[in-house]
Amino acid sequence: MTIFNATSHTIEQAAQCLKKGGLVAFPTETVYGLGADAQNSEALKRIFIAKNRPQDHPLIVHLASFDQFDAWAHDIPDSAVKLAQHFFPAPLAIILKKRHDINTIVTGGQDTIALRVPNHPVALDLLRAFGGGIAAPSANRFCRISPTQAIHVQQELGERVDLILDGGACEIGVESTIIDLSGEHPMLLRYGQVMRSELEEVLNLNVLIPDVLRKSTVRTAGMMNTHYAPVTPAMLCESMAILHFVQANTQMNVGILSCGHDDFPSSAHCTVMSLPANPVGYAQSLYATLRELDTLKLDVILVETPPQTENWQAINDRLAKATHNFRER
Ligand code: TXA
Ligand code: MG
Repeated sequence: MTIFNATSHTIEQAAQCLKKGGLVAFPTETVYGLGADAQNSEALKRIFIAKNRPQDHPLIVHLASFDQFDAWAHDIPDSAVKLAQHFFPAPLAIILKKRHDINTIVTGGQDTIALRVPNHPVALDLLRAFGGGIAAPSANRFCRISPTQAIHVQQELGERVDLILDGGACEIGVESTIIDLSGEHPMLLRYGQVMRSELEEVLNLNVLIPDVLRKSTVRTAGMMNTHYAPVTPAMLCESMAILHFVQANTQMNVGILSCGHDDFPSSAHCTVMSLPANPVGYAQSLYATLRELDTLKLDVILVETPPQTENWQAINDRLAKATHNFRER
C-alpha cells in the first residue's frame, strides 16, 4: 500500500489502479472512502473482505455529476432532481430504484441504489479521471470509527488497500445524510450535515424517519444501534455526572470528551480532550479525537452530552451509536 499526496499525477495513477480492479482510499468532504470500480464484481468483493463487512450491507456509488444518475437508477423522481439542483455536489446520498443491469453486489442484493456526488476536489478529480461510478464505503473496518485523515485509513486497513490518496483532513467529519426517494414517501435513513428541515424545505414535503414509518427491511447504518464505535467503553453523560463519576472512581483511567468546557479536572488518571461547542467544529474533530482517546488504554471514555438542537443531530446520532454497547451492559 502506498500513500500519495493527491496531485493530478497521483490521481491519474489512482484512476488506473481502479480500472485494474484495485482498491483506492480517497478523501471526500465527509470521511475517507474505500473506493472500487462499482461495475467490477471482483473489486467490489474485495471491499467487503477488506472491511469485514457483511455482503448484504449495500455500498454508496459516487459519481462526478447528477447527469450520470440515469446510468444507475431508473424512474428518478422530481424530488431527486430538486435535491440535486439545490445541493449537489454535497454530503447527501440519494437512494433510488436501481437499473436492472446494475451489479447486485454493490447494492447488497437490494433493488435500490445509493448515489452521491461528493463535494471534494480530489474525489471529483478522481471520479472524472476514472469516468465511471466508484463504490466507496467509509474506509474503516466494519462498525468502527470512520477515518477523517489518510493516516487513519492506513491504521484501519493497512495492506488491504492498494493506494491511499492523501487530501488532508476531511472538512465535515461525519458521514453523508442519506435520503431514500425510492418509495412513496421521502425517508431519512441517516443524519448528516444536510438537515432534515433543509430537505423538507427544498422538497416542500415531509421527510419521514424510519421510526415513524418503518416499512423497509433494508440494512443501513442509521438503523443499526452499534456503529462508529471506539474499542474503549464510551458513555454519554451530563457534565455534573462526569464530575461525580471521576470523584467516585479515582482508581479508574478516565477519558473525558468535553463539549466546549475546559474546566474538567485533568490528572494522571483523567485525560480531558475538548471539542468546540459548535456543531461544525465539533464534527470536524470528533472521530480523530475519539481515535486518539482510544489509543490511551483508558477504562472508560465519558462523552459530555452536546446540545440537542437539530444542527447537532448528526453528532448526537453518532455519539448514541458510539456509546450504545456500554449503555446496554
Ligand atoms: O459520507 C459518506 O457517505 C461516506 C463517504 C466515503 O462517501 N460513505 C459512507 O459509506 O458512509 P458507508 O458504506 O460507510 O455507509 C453507507 C450507508 C450504509 O450504512 C448502507 O447500508 C447505506 O448507506 N446504504 C447504501 N445503499 C443503500 C440502499 N440501497 N438502501 C439503504 N441503505 C443503503
Ligand atoms: Mg461506514
